[in-house]
Amino acid sequence: MKKRLEQLKQDFIDLVGKVTDRDALEALKSEFLGRHGKLSAAMKEMAGLVESERKVIGELANDVKKTIEEAYGEAVGKASKASRASMAQSEWIDVTQPALGSMPRGHLHPVTQVREDLENLFTSMGFAVLDGPELESDYYNFTALNIPPTHPARDIQDTFYVAGHPGTVMRTHTSPVQIRGMREFGVPLRMIAPGRCFRNEATDVRHEHTFHQIEGVVVDRGISFAHMKGVLEAVAHSLYGKDTKIRLRPKFYPFVEPGVNGEVTCYLCTGKGCRLCKKSGWLEIFGAGMVHPNVLKEGGVDPDVYSGFAFGFGLTRLVMLKYGIDDIRHLESGDLRFLKQF
Ligand code: PHE
Repeated sequence: MKKRLEQLKQDFIDLVGKVTDRDALEALKSEFLGRHGKLSAAMKEMAGLVESERKVIGELANDVKKTIEEAYGEAVGKASKASRASMAQSEWIDVTQPALGSMPRGHLHPVTQVREDLENLFTSMGFAVLDGPELESDYYNFTALNIPPTHPARDIQDTFYVAGHPGTVMRTHTSPVQIRGMREFGVPLRMIAPGRCFRNEATDVRHEHTFHQIEGVVVDRGISFAHMKGVLEAVAHSLYGKDTKIRLRPKFYPFVEPGVNGEVTCYLCTGKGCRLCKKSGWLEIFGAGMVHPNVLKEGGVDPDVYSGFAFGFGLTRLVMLKYGIDDIRHLESGDLRFLKQF
């Protein structure tokens, strides 16, 4: 393992010396450090090591990463200097522009990374990716979803009502996009809608005013509960591996009938019970169910001809589980000390 990492570092240094074009440098860097790059492939094998070895190898890997980044930075600096020199001969240059290659580059937020992974999975299954407004009408957020005014179900979603704009709320879930999707695209429909949601709750390690969900809807002739289970199983397998099982238990949501609360076997203990799953062996990650006939009607779909299922994943929760983040408030904090770890 050690040798392999050293070799990786040496390979990069050898190769980087031969490349002078910036695009090629970028490609070379992602070949080594990218999410599916050589370093991450090597790191995957680390899982099999014992704790003490893992620590040593982990440190070495960080070291290799740093060296590669430095070598890359230097090469980019050189490449842009060379190209500036040749440009200076032929064209005008803006001398006030910050030096290329000297600007530190950031990366995508962990929520965005996981969202993109799931978007890739769903588009591969033929789902369209839709967007909906965060400032939503009371009608789309509640009424159209079979939650009439004065219905107590409104109380369980602590809602931000917007002062001076009656009938307007910060959406409490991504479910309003179910209606918007059906109305805009009709049936058959296969869509997901990732996005931010807002709830007026006291914040603590598990509650935040802003969080992310991914909604999904499939409507067609003859869509059954079995289709729903198949899709959710595919998602669970993609997230946590082929041996992951899902468990659906009845839960009331006004916009589905029947409705379920969805759990997957804990990926850390594979269902035996540990601190991550609070000894239960299961992780609750989504709500789902067969779209209620009233909701289909609101979407302009005839419930006598069509049926469908819907689900809502807690995207923020998936991210927290994936990276072992113990306080949800980090995610919206914008704190670089936190964000740089991903
Ligand atoms: N909208 C629900 C929530 O926020 C989740 C859900 C979506 C449940 C779709 C069923 C179907 O809790």
